[in-house]
Amino acid sequence: MKILVLNGPNINMLGIREPDVYGNSSFSDLLALLQRTAKEEGIEIEQYQSNHEGCLVDKIQESYGKVDGIVINPAAYTHTSIAILDALKAVSIPAVEVHISDVDARESFRQISYAGMACCKTIKGRGLEGYREAILYLKALTQGMINQ
Ligand code: DQA
Repeated sequence: MKILVLNGPNINMLGIREPDVYGNSSFSDLLALLQRTAKEEGIEIEQYQSNHEGCLVDKIQESYGKVDGIVINPAAYTHTSIAILDALKAVSIPAVEVHISDVDARESFRQISYAGMACCKTIKGRGLEGYREAILYLKALTQGMINQ
């Protein structure tokens, strides 16, 4: 099975940006966690990060028919992008939304998630571990161990 892990703007700045909010782990640490998880779980993981909304939309469209699940942290586009919501709906691939921070406990403008409306699960406030949880959830879902 293959999972696409998508990250939106500024996620490449992990470890540098607002460590009090996002922690001290770097983007490289996240990539290492993804590699480790792929090996441990015997699955293929492709990761893609972009600061550009259209590039994320392109990547979602390109994944049609090619991946079994999508883990997505749209970052700031979570709260603004109907284009990403529509792309997720268009491909209809099981998707899990991840947020490193607990968006519910932050500013009111972070309370709305458009992308989340096309996701079967949201994991927030679990740090980088949230990505691993999302991958394990999609694996279990794909193998029919849990129902959507
Ligand atoms: C984030 C939360 C968003 O509100 C923010 O814009 C981000 C990161 C998170 O992972 O906690 O860039 O998606």
